Amino acid sequence: MQLINRLDDLRMAVSNMKGRGKLALVPTMGALHAGHLKLVEEARARVDHVAVSIFVNPKQFGEGEDLDAYPRTLEADRAKLEAAGADLLWVPTVDEIYADGFATTVSVAGPSEGLCGAARPGHFDGVALVVAKLFNQVQPDIALFGQKDYQQLAVIRRMVRDLDFPVEIVGVPTVRDADGLALSSRNAYLSVEARAAAVALPDALKSAAEAIRDGEDPGHALDAARRRMLDAGFVSIDYLEMRDGDNLQPLKSFKSGARLFVAARIENTRLIDNHPVDGK
Ligand code: PAF
Repeated sequence: MQLINRLDDLRMAVSNMKGRGKLALVPTMGALHAGHLKLVEEARARVDHVAVSIFVNPKQFGEGEDLDAYPRTLEADRAKLEAAGADLLWVPTVDEIYADGFATTVSVAGPSEGLCGAARPGHFDGVALVVAKLFNQVQPDIALFGQKDYQQLAVIRRMVRDLDFPVEIVGVPTVRDADGLALSSRNAYLSVEARAAAVALPDALKSAAEAIRDGEDPGHALDAARRRMLDAGFVSIDYLEMRDGDNLQPLKSFKSGARLFVAARIENTRLIDNHPVDGK
């Protein structure tokens, strides 16, 4: 696996690989876990070459968020990617991505609104901007993103359609621990007690989805899920909503393709998850 830090080296390596088959990109912020490695595995099953980027993108962190504390584990990440069979690791510096005088913004209105977009103003603009740059730099044929960040996936799909990026976006199902908690780099912040209590989040989401599918009023089902999480030790719930899984429009009543979305805080850590209501 080649480790590359400079854009001109990247361009050379990419043109070499693209001359010999199709290229996938797995964009990440590092602190890699089995969820990221699943994206690499899916990429390998689909195309000839797999590039992974690691860049902790300052523009997607708000005031008071965990930019400085965000785990940076390059050596361990590199070993995991090597073992997973990635071909290229792109690790740009902040200057390489945001050169002096950088002035461009990318904003994807519809799917960025509400949910995490409400609690984290500017977050999806930062994501869209860096992903647009990574697409232009790496020029992948396909790019893979986890469904755990479902709203992010919807924002990127919309941007790719709107701006005609010649890349196929692949959403990969969430990888979970044995008890059902979605893997996340932020799980590392949890104390042993909070980690044990956190399972209430996927449990509550799953039960609410089942209840709604069985005909219960969505408002009641979501209230019950909220209470279950708070009783388990979550300190607050940023949102718990049912939305259309395609366009992310809020839904008051159940329809096929509906999906539940949650963000909740336990100790100082904000966890997110989502679940299809009817298995779609
Ligand atoms: O999901 C992430 O890790 C990040 O939001 C991404 C897509 C790599 C953009 O920085």
